[in-house]
Amino acid sequence: MFRLFSSNMAFFAHQIQRSFSSSVVRNVVIKNVTIIGGGQMGAGIAQVAASTGHSVTLVDMTDDILKKAMKGIQSSLRRVVKKKFSDDPESGDDFIQKVMQNVSTNTNPAAAVTSSDLVVEAIVENMKIKQDLFGFLDKMAPEHTIFASNTSSLPISDMASATSRPDRCGGLHFFNPVPMMKLVEVVATSSTSPETSESLLNFTKALGKTPVCCKDTPGFIVNRLLVPYMMEALRLHERGHGSKEDIDIGMKLGAGYPMGPFELSDYVGLDTIKFITDGWREKEPDNPLFAPSDLLNKLVSEGKLGKKSLQGFYKYSK
Ligand code: CAA
Repeated sequence: MFRLFSSNMAFFAHQIQRSFSSSVVRNVVIKNVTIIGGGQMGAGIAQVAASTGHSVTLVDMTDDILKKAMKGIQSSLRRVVKKKFSDDPESGDDFIQKVMQNVSTNTNPAAAVTSSDLVVEAIVENMKIKQDLFGFLDKMAPEHTIFASNTSSLPISDMASATSRPDRCGGLHFFNPVPMMKLVEVVATSSTSPETSESLLNFTKALGKTPVCCKDTPGFIVNRLLVPYMMEALRLHERGHGSKEDIDIGMKLGAGYPMGPFELSDYVGLDTIKFITDGWREKEPDNPLFAPSDLLNKLVSEGKLGKKSLQGFYKYSK
């Protein structure tokens, strides 16, 4: 459970800001960003925001998690500069130092949002926890602050309903690995204001990403196509119509995909794919695209979750 911290100081500051702010919130130019969740996605978002000159606060429950996230950011940055500054390693080191200076960490979400223009949540995929978090931060953040979720499959409107600012809530769906993947899905609910959408679109462009606009529908654009594709690859294999290696080679060499569906499933996380498909099947039990896979269920129940657990469809070393 995401712990909610109380802070009288933060609450007081928020009340003052509220009483002075206009009731009409115009376009927000996003400079100060708070990322809640220091996992792979949260750390990746923090990295690209800090790399493009934003002031970033990364929040998670413990200092240990945050230390690990900062270490991950640093090693990803080293990979980035190895390419970007290949003939000037000193400038690469300076770049890393500057980027790291743009990121601070905090275990207190209330304190972390007091001067935030944008909050991006990248925490566990559990609606109740996300609603509790958004409801709590709504009382702590300035009036102009936009709340965004990086959820891959849950309705943004349900999270927004826990706040008093549904017009300033939307989705920002990034892709793994965040520093490499150029796309961000910018999700508008029926309550998201045009100003909020525009601010989010401008923010993604400032990150050097390409945004696409999506409605708040299950899977948005990419996962709605990608997850059924990965599930069908699994079912094809279960029917005995191809080995996972051949299916992967087939899609890489025959369709030009950078990873085959089994490699990609391991990369995304088998628990994530199961979670998304199970959720969709609950809503549309007869849709054959969302049919379960015994093999996927078995691997997840054995804790074989893909690359992160060093075993999924394939085995990995550290
Ligand atoms: N940080 C920084 N640089 C990275 C990186 C990272 N995390 N990952 C890869 N790179 C860069 C590095 O420069 C790396 O070179 P080094 O290994 O020398 O550092 C270079 O990319 C090449 O990487 P790899 O040799 O590991 O392999 P690759 O050429 O296949 O590229 C890849 C890796 C970018 C991940 C590529 O395979 C790819 O695009 N795969 C598809 C990923 C994809 O589809 N992601 C979306 C998943 S769906 C999702 O995220 C949504 C959801 O909600 C589930």
